[in-house]
Amino acid sequence: MTTTPPEPPAPSSLAMARPTGILFVCLGNICRSPAAEGVFLHLIGLQGLEDAFTVDSAGTGDWHVGRSADARMRSAASRRGIDLPSRARQISTADLSRFDHVLTMDRQNLKAVRGLAVQGEATAQIGPLTRYCRRYSIEEVPDPYYGGEEGFDRVLDLLEDACGGLLETLRADRAS
Ligand code: 4NP
Repeated sequence: MTTTPPEPPAPSSLAMARPTGILFVCLGNICRSPAAEGVFLHLIGLQGLEDAFTVDSAGTGDWHVGRSADARMRSAASRRGIDLPSRARQISTADLSRFDHVLTMDRQNLKAVRGLAVQGEATAQIGPLTRYCRRYSIEEVPDPYYGGEEGFDRVLDLLEDACGGLLETLRADRAS
């Protein structure tokens, strides 16, 4: 008996098969971008979308390479039930073709990443994470490193808003 080979997958299901790569970027990769990574991971976990995304973070600087996220940032996240698993690393030009979206925290990060992009074969969409905020009208996620505890909570408020908007946008992109 001959069997008919299965139809190849439709283009839309092929598109669904490849995870969308998201890289969050700040200066030191110990406060804001690891928190963004943790918040986004938390959100996709709640929605059962772990397989749809590859999520990472990096810093434009190399001072803290190998370190866990700042203890103050981890405590503030933990109070919201959010784990920050990252180890700091520095962004490279390869990241700009490995990830689909590179999302920066402030103007300085954006300028640094755009500077890297002109050196290589960047295919990622590069832009500020705050463009996805829905509740807050703000252009930058402020650096909390030299400030008080409240700065870390403020960062998380902004990141929860922005990452929620980002996930909504990317879910719609993947479905189309
Ligand atoms: P991040 O914060 O860019 O949000 O990780 C900083 C962490 C460390 C330093 C600056 C910003 N630093 O100057 O060491």
